[in-house]
Amino acid sequence: MLHEIHNLDVCVLGLGAVGLPTALYIKDKGLNVYGYDISEKAVKRASSRGLRASVRWDDIPACDVYVICVSTLLKDDGSPDMDPVFDVCEKISEKMKRSSLVSIESTIVPGTCRKVYNEILNRKGFLVHVPHRYWEGDPVNYGVRQTRVIGGINDASLEKGVHFYGRVLDIPLHMVSEIEVAELCKIAENAYRYVQIAFAEELKMICKALKLDFEEVREACNTKWNIEILEARKGIGGHCLPKDVRYFIHLKPDLAIISRAATKVDEIYRKRIVKGSL
Ligand SMILES: NC(=O)c1ccc[n+]([C@@H]2O[C@H](COP(=O)([O-])OP(=O)(O)OC[C@H]3O[C@@H](n4cnc5c(N)ncnc54)[C@H](O)[C@@H]3O)[C@@H](O)[C@H]2O)c1
Repeated sequence: MLHEIHNLDVCVLGLGAVGLPTALYIKDKGLNVYGYDISEKAVKRASSRGLRASVRWDDIPACDVYVICVSTLLKDDGSPDMDPVFDVCEKISEKMKRSSLVSIESTIVPGTCRKVYNEILNRKGFLVHVPHRYWEGDPVNYGVRQTRVIGGINDASLEKGVHFYGRVLDIPLHMVSEIEVAELCKIAENAYRYVQIAFAEELKMICKALKLDFEEVREACNTKWNIEILEARKGIGGHCLPKDVRYFIHLKPDLAIISRAATKVDEIYRKRIVKGSL
């Protein structure tokens, strides 16, 4: 088993906030890790932490496992931009082995994995989606090793993915029956969190209009066993929540009624914060 692990070559693509700790975690498990990123800065940072990393795809050998942690973004028109994932999958497809496992950890919209498998990997190799739940505020409890959802493009992929993440990397897993479930669960989690925070913002604005103290109202509400109103700070920030709620809305705009309203609440709340009226 140890011999088998030490012989596994793993390439982590995207060495940012999520990719770098992922690559370091895999390296600490004794695997041969190669890092790839288009950013010189990200590669330098990874190299300074002892990783073999490069901006040149030619420097990366054919690997047994590819772990994709590249950025996923929004286009100018607000629609999901999965191009970084498609871009690295094109590269992987050129040199992967028939036995290679490809794992997409980046946050993606449902349908992305199937498109990658059918149109880019040409149904070669094994594909899983293991969305990240990383929180840099507490990497010990909410880092790479925390319960992760895993879905496979087929049974053989799921089996291989569970072996890699569960047995080799010792990461607790929650298996789902379809890869689209794994895709949707990540953006639904973040949309849910977004809506919860937007409710706190809404309540704070209502308290202000009624000249009541929001913190006192919140504290009083939260004494009930099934209520947990969150804090309302300076607007729903960070990179992931505002992006992922928009991925979620984009799936079915006419049905994502609460999520759409939540983005409106946050917009109004932010304006009031800037005006100093909150
Ligand atoms: N940061 C978090 O806490 C967090 C948590 C959960 C999920 N995620 C998701 O993980 C993914 C990565 O997020 P992050 O925070 O690490 O982003 P990041 O911006 O910190 O890092 C992304 C890295 O990907 C690289 N990259 C972009 N396009 C590339 C390409 N075509 N080829 C190679 N490298 C490329 C960038 O240069 C960058 O170094 C996103 O999908 C994000 O939504 C992030």
